[in-house]
Amino acid sequence: MIRRAASEEIVDLAGLTRELHALRDEAVAAARSAASTSELEELEVTLLGKKGRLTVVLRGIGALPAEDRPRVGAIANEVQAAMRAAFADGAATLRARELGERLGAEAVDVTTPARPVRRGTLHPVVETANRIAAIFGQFGFQVYEGPEVEDDTTNFRMLNIPPDHPARDLWDTLYVDVPDHLLRTHTSPGQIRVMQSARPPIRALLPGRCFRYEAVDASHASEFFQVEGLMIDQGTTLGDLKGLLDQFAQAMYGAGRRTRFRPGYYPFTEPSVAFDVECLVCGGSGCPACSRTGWMTILGAGMVHPVVLQYGGIDPERYQGFAFGMGVERIANLRYGVGDLRLYMENDLRFLEQFR
Ligand code: PHE
Repeated sequence: MIRRAASEEIVDLAGLTRELHALRDEAVAAARSAASTSELEELEVTLLGKKGRLTVVLRGIGALPAEDRPRVGAIANEVQAAMRAAFADGAATLRARELGERLGAEAVDVTTPARPVRRGTLHPVVETANRIAAIFGQFGFQVYEGPEVEDDTTNFRMLNIPPDHPARDLWDTLYVDVPDHLLRTHTSPGQIRVMQSARPPIRALLPGRCFRYEAVDASHASEFFQVEGLMIDQGTTLGDLKGLLDQFAQAMYGAGRRTRFRPGYYPFTEPSVAFDVECLVCGGSGCPACSRTGWMTILGAGMVHPVVLQYGGIDPERYQGFAFGMGVERIANLRYGVGDLRLYMENDLRFLEQFR
């Protein structure tokens, strides 16, 4: 018996069964050959989905004579189950394959050498200050630290520089609040602080940052480092100072370096000296680096003025001492041949990395 289905196809039992089997075979083949889970999912929707081809075929069952329907219905159920199983199988196979591929692609090669860690270095100024401290450490000097914001009394008055004294012109001062607090213009106030906190014999080294109101150029900085030295004991003389600084110059710049002392002036030392090392660039014959003198001044020094000892609470009749102060950048310049002070403050890695 032949009838027309809604889709205008000719529907009969044998035809429907063939169609169902064809669909099943197609699904099995597709599930096997799909290249990816997404492709497989698409095929599943086209064949098995609510609006898929199986649904269309099943609709034809309604057009069959009532006595044929149960048989086709049974076949249809089998076909549907077979198709579902084929897609489930295919999906499982594909998922396993895709996982395997991903694991392969994302695999970490644990034998690859690690990226090198960039190691920093000490700043050349810090490195030089450490070297200075190491040399004086061998002579029994101990490192102290004073504050960067000082009071006027410790930075000036107790160092024998009264207010309005012309010697203040030597230090162009940055005040934090006028007239009592300032950024220390030198490390010398550390002398007072050490004397107030320790009893002689004293051998102190005071490294630190100093500040001055300067027009900045290659040889003037508004921020720089000094290392102050202070020794106080009974019977300390200028001869001890000269011997010590000479030893320091040999240790810092090599044995056999010629040195010299010249008279100098500081309000807090009496007598005061300037200490020169033979020019490291020309070896003493005279060149632009040493203004053709053959000498380079590396520090100021002198015997601690009795008034300063008194301010520090030390009896100048019993104790004598000497002090010295050097600019660390200047020493570093001579060590490394750096010609511009500004380089130390710029934090340019191209400069800093040269001190590895
Ligand atoms: N404080 C002096 C300066 O900054 C250097 C100095 C220190 C001189 C100790 C004598 C003694 O110029």
